[in-house]
Amino acid sequence: MKSLPIRIAPSMLAADFSKLAQQISEAEKGGADLIHCDVMDGLFVPNLTFGPEIIRTLRKVTDVPLDVHLMIVKPELSIQAYADAGAAIITIHQEASVHLHRTLTEIRRMGIQAGVSLNPSTPVSTIEPVLEKIDLLLIMTVNPGFGGQQFIEACLRKVEEAHALRERSGLGFSIEVDGGIEPATIGRVARAGADTFVAGTAVFHGAIAKNIQSLREATQKERF
Ligand code: DX5
Ligand code: ZN
Repeated sequence: MKSLPIRIAPSMLAADFSKLAQQISEAEKGGADLIHCDVMDGLFVPNLTFGPEIIRTLRKVTDVPLDVHLMIVKPELSIQAYADAGAAIITIHQEASVHLHRTLTEIRRMGIQAGVSLNPSTPVSTIEPVLEKIDLLLIMTVNPGFGGQQFIEACLRKVEEAHALRERSGLGFSIEVDGGIEPATIGRVARAGADTFVAGTAVFHGAIAKNIQSLREATQKERF
């Protein structure tokens, strides 16, 4: 399959929440392809963030598609709320969804792109049976729960595996990475086969548009 276009997805978790609308608008002007929204429930991960109301608010202030990453248990109970709030992509965790196949099918039935995410310790092979149900595979490159963590090198291998699996399957899902993505690491994950890059700290700490540009340039240097 031909390479998919590079997408930079700023994670609003690292934004200054006291001026969220302004920072999202800066990211939009800076060329953000998606806005990544980290929903945490204090159960699946040891941190609590926000729910559908914030997504609905964001939807009003930007035209950039919202990439909603649900780090919550039993995501099947709330996907309708996130679909109604205006998500373009809803990603659920393999580890959090017992009936993964059914939940992914339901997300697509709502007209939303379906994503599945894998924690660093979960092998890529666990999602082979649902590959035809997904638009996006999110390989976590940190243990989910917090921004600003260090990239886990061992996850590079999983990106390569996911890329090889996509080639073999002939399918067209995106390969997204999330956690510790910065100019020093993004080149290697791009080379390993990722096309969609979530970055919180590396976008929102400092000059937002310039940071997005630096990340994009760093992917282009390394990509095959
Ligand atoms: C981690 C979240 C990430 C996080 C990334 O649980 O899923 O999206 O915000 O933050 P950085 O880019 O700072 O590692
Ligand atoms: Zn995330």
